[in-house]
Amino acid sequence: MSSLTPVDVTSAATAPLRLASGASIPRVGFGTFGSDRYGSDAVARALRIALGAGYRLIDCASVYGNEADVGAVLEEALQDGINRSDLFVMSKIWNDAHEPLAAIASVEKSLTDLRLDYLDAVFVHWPFPNHHAPKAGTDARDPAARPYDHAAFMKLWKALESLVDAGLVRHLGTSNVTIAKLQRILADARIAPGLNEMELHPSFQQGELFQFCLDHEIQPVGYSPLGSPSRPARDTTPDDVSDMDLPPVRAIAEARGIHPALVCLKWAVARGHIPIPFSAKELQIVANLHAALEDPLTPEEMEQLRSAERNSRLIKGQVFLWPEAGSWLDLWDVDGTIPGWNGYGSPTL
Ligand SMILES: NC(=O)c1ccc[n+]([C@@H]2O[C@H](COP(=O)([O-])OP(=O)(O)OC[C@H]3O[C@@H](n4cnc5c(N)ncnc54)[C@H](OP(=O)(O)O)[C@@H]3O)[C@@H](O)[C@H]2O)c1
Repeated sequence: MSSLTPVDVTSAATAPLRLASGASIPRVGFGTFGSDRYGSDAVARALRIALGAGYRLIDCASVYGNEADVGAVLEEALQDGINRSDLFVMSKIWNDAHEPLAAIASVEKSLTDLRLDYLDAVFVHWPFPNHHAPKAGTDARDPAARPYDHAAFMKLWKALESLVDAGLVRHLGTSNVTIAKLQRILADARIAPGLNEMELHPSFQQGELFQFCLDHEIQPVGYSPLGSPSRPARDTTPDDVSDMDLPPVRAIAEARGIHPALVCLKWAVARGHIPIPFSAKELQIVANLHAALEDPLTPEEMEQLRSAERNSRLIKGQVFLWPEAGSWLDLWDVDGTIPGWNGYGSPTL
């Protein structure tokens, strides 16, 4: 456990948020994707520090390939006196497990690996069953990839609803979806998504989707909240913006004498979404938690950060494209419709 001062997670300023279900959820979480750079051991070590510092929300995923090591740390933390009810542990179904039976098996494996009786939330990691191998390169493509198929997605969702009924999962979540897809999911789901995990950082604020989530009592969880500076090469293009170098972010950081990364986290918490930063480094892990929960940005600083918006999506998802698709934009319903095999305007499945 960390030797640094833990955050007082019981004070009013750090009080948890409430989900539509009434359950509480911490305002900031810890990511566990090592960006193909930090192995299981390093992520487990980082998580141990994070729990010692006061993080209680942990974002896991089967595809991160480290849930067994993460689970060992969680078990240790529970044995050391952290209450299970104070933890909020989330996992995700990977794209190769969208068939209902495979999805159920995936959640069961996550529960076993994480050494838990229940998960606080399970997300569908991507709305497509289009798979790539871990550590895939930029040009990797699944030959069986296809556009969004709502009927197939709802079969998967129904299987996840049965896990909620069985008490194995407390909340369901979507990830990497759009308003167009969420509208269809909300129309057909018996158990509505309680959370939506989406890319959110100052240069990619996703205002419309963010507001849509709030309007439908779906809690936004912001991934890559620092602009994912160590992300894999497959998620990097020459035009990408670095959040930490943006003038409004830098100006606030300089005025406050803090690192620009910490401004990104303060922005997230003040806006009302839950950032889930990752770091393998103790000082960063602790500083990130303190920054998220202490000395909030002023309304003027929040206003300044509106001008950081660059519509800069970093995790474009091009490895999930189907053969006939045009560009990665086909994954994101940019004209408000869901494209079919041949892009926008072609029949959907
Ligand atoms: N649902 C999804 O599809 C999805 C997609 C992506 C991520 N996620 C989740 O979101 C989590 C976070 O996203 P992410 O890891 O992509 O990006 P991130 O949290 O924005 O960036 C993490 C990196 O930022 C650097 N960093 C952390 N704290 C810092 C600080 N205080 N000062 C300077 N640099 C700092 C570290 O780089 P160095 O290690 O190089 O120092 C760290 O590896 C993941 O772990 C995962 O749980 C979900």
